[in-house]
Amino acid sequence: MKASFQNHLRYSLVKDEYSATRRDCFESMVRAVRDRLVDRWTETQQTYYRRDAKRVYYLSLEFLMGRALRNALLNLDLETSTSRALAEMGTDLSQLEDIEFDAALGNGGLGRLAACFLDSMATLELPAYGYGIRYEFGIFFQRIRDGYQVETPDNWLRYGNPWEIERPEYLYPVKFYGRVNRYHDRDGTLRCEWVDAEEVMAMAYDTPVPGFRNNTVNNLRLWAAKSTREFDLRYFNDGDYEKAVSDKALSETISKVLYPNDNALQGKELRLKQEYFFVSATLQDILRRYKKSHPESLDAFPDAVAIQLNDTHPAVAIPELMRLFLDAEGLGWGKAWDLTVKTFGYTNHTVLPEALEKWPVDLFGRLLPRHLEIIYEINQRFLDEIRKKGPPLSEQIADLSIIEEDGGKKVRMSHLAIVGSHSVNGVSALHTDILKNVIFSRFQPIFPERFNNKTNGITPRRWLALCNPGLAKLITRRIGDGWLTDLSRLREIEGFAADGSFREEWRDVKDSNKARLADLIKSETRTVVDPKAIVYCQVKRMHEYKRQLLSVMHLIALYNRLKADPQSSPVPKTFVFSGKAAPGYFMAKLIIKLIHSVADCVNHDRSLGDRLKVAFLPNYGVSLAEKIIPGADVSLQISTAGTEASGTGNMKFALNGAVTVGTLDGANVEIREEVGDGNIFIFGLTARETSSLRSAGYSPLSFYEGHPELRQVLDMIADGFFSASQPDLFRPLTDSLLGGDPYFLLADFPAYALCHEAVEAAYRDRERWTRMSIANVARSGKFSSDRTVREYAKDIWNAEPVPIRLPVKK
Ligand code: IMP
Repeated sequence: MKASFQNHLRYSLVKDEYSATRRDCFESMVRAVRDRLVDRWTETQQTYYRRDAKRVYYLSLEFLMGRALRNALLNLDLETSTSRALAEMGTDLSQLEDIEFDAALGNGGLGRLAACFLDSMATLELPAYGYGIRYEFGIFFQRIRDGYQVETPDNWLRYGNPWEIERPEYLYPVKFYGRVNRYHDRDGTLRCEWVDAEEVMAMAYDTPVPGFRNNTVNNLRLWAAKSTREFDLRYFNDGDYEKAVSDKALSETISKVLYPNDNALQGKELRLKQEYFFVSATLQDILRRYKKSHPESLDAFPDAVAIQLNDTHPAVAIPELMRLFLDAEGLGWGKAWDLTVKTFGYTNHTVLPEALEKWPVDLFGRLLPRHLEIIYEINQRFLDEIRKKGPPLSEQIADLSIIEEDGGKKVRMSHLAIVGSHSVNGVSALHTDILKNVIFSRFQPIFPERFNNKTNGITPRRWLALCNPGLAKLITRRIGDGWLTDLSRLREIEGFAADGSFREEWRDVKDSNKARLADLIKSETRTVVDPKAIVYCQVKRMHEYKRQLLSVMHLIALYNRLKADPQSSPVPKTFVFSGKAAPGYFMAKLIIKLIHSVADCVNHDRSLGDRLKVAFLPNYGVSLAEKIIPGADVSLQISTAGTEASGTGNMKFALNGAVTVGTLDGANVEIREEVGDGNIFIFGLTARETSSLRSAGYSPLSFYEGHPELRQVLDMIADGFFSASQPDLFRPLTDSLLGGDPYFLLADFPAYALCHEAVEAAYRDRERWTRMSIANVARSGKFSSDRTVREYAKDIWNAEPVPIRLPVKK
């Protein structure tokens, strides 16, 4: 490692001991590590060819990979030797790793899930590929000015990206606009071709995805848009340089920036372009690879290829594969459709209506004229089959149709994905239930065999071994390190919960993680917190349905109680918030401001001492999560029941020994099943109750009037107690609550506040609390993404592991 590091510093970066910066050291380190992946990477790809393995393609518009250095060292088992080599050269690994930019090409759960799946697929030795977009700018950087979120661009490629390999040889044309030409071929068959289209080139960038302590190195291939003009010399010869430059800039905007919306559709033409751009390049690449091994026929396509659609964002792959099969390969409709449906699986990630993708037919047809025709044909054939079944199904045509007719025609991408895939899965048991019985209930009787559940998971390598080395070491000392690849083995630590010295060690680890978090809070926000306080964390995207506002209302109530009873001595409490709001999401941004205003009031009130503190850590992302989660005592997972598809933050906290305060929503339901009622705090309305309350007519005002503590809190927010210079500042929040409260904050407030009293009582009993913490870790085995991916491989992809053996070096 040392020699390799020094070689790269000198020969790759051309630096010596006088000129090398810390970034140069970081880059040399990455190159040295990458070198150790190269043979495995090549051997992996060659083995897949030799074995003619069935490949799994995970198509996702987002991959939230975070940092890669420490992960690669862990997987290669090089952490110790590298730290030693660096120490001998007078450098520290932990300082170097902080130089790495997060690869933050995603918004939240959906993108991080894709990253956890890549890790698990490589660890399970599955022949898998991630495909997406190499955004020049990932999710924006969040800064806080005067309590408000300010967005700045995430220029993560500013210093280059030492992990990626540019692949100019994998370059595909992608078409947009134009029209469909019909003609008769030599046999007299009517055929279609897409003509007069504009073209953009997609160029591949590859990133290695190493498995944990095996020889597998899979590939993440991300596409960057390049202008065709660069490749067309005639254009330059015509002398129109200015147009050449502006055309180039325009076509390259496709991969410029990630759309920063989580669980909401912006509906912009450029977004649809991004979706088709990466799907078209990916399918060309998949077909090329398939044909290398199967030049004779497409018959074996679904036996060689499984494509998983991460939400509907890549669902245009369904008509695109049909177009390739029909127009380029000359297959008939029946054959093409059969192969297509067998190839695709669709994962739904949300039930929020504002997040379901629907594209206006005009826009879709202008951008992708041939695809719109194919979608109409798919729809016609699907609806004809339904009509044949007679009532009651035939009476539901309008609800089932891929085309929505009301209020301007739209393509419903979820319906397209359901009709065009052999598998439709939700991401937690409750979510799948809602898909089957509520949002896609019309499809359930038609395709009962398609609907299935795959509860999300997280990779235990990043989310325990890497982020919480203290706890990982303690666990490994007692039960060995088998849990790293078989998380169910964590059960074995439960046997130690009765051992007082183990519990003490457990508390020591948590205390030092909490002390580190307290330091971070101080350095980031200048707030000094009691390192012994209960740490409550709500870190996730800012969204009304996730109900950060309910936490704020509760902590205002706590503040009022302390002010009313200055002598009381509750356990000191620190509330930690972190999360980005979509730049156009007014209410979510106002909640960030409210958190800061309340923090200002609470943190500066000397009469409270350390009994209550509030901190908002800016720029939440993978690396910040890795720092916050190990220091949490209580994980706040309080979305309105029936709104959060799964959540994965909930799993990360439980795996790091935090106890959940949560609603019966998403995977919280399954966390409760695993850890047991005594090791979790559940409160509030159930999904069924919110749904009946909604239809029966919910009156938030009756809660406001009937609950004096709640009323006081809302009045303070509404009357400017936290915004003296702008008394109406937070009115939009209280107006929304009192004028309808779509997420039932008022209805759930009394139960939430009561639940926290039980939490505090449990925390006061240190031994009981430690046992709860241990139980949460011990029983989190189900939430490994290894388990999730194994289920996908068996039930959806029909894919087998392909172990990689390295040739013995002579
Ligand atoms: P791709 O899968 O075609 O994108 O190629 C990725 C890598 O697979 C190449 O860089 C080669 O290392 C390997 N590879 C490509 N074609 C073959 C083949 O025909 N036999 C064995 N290995 C191959």
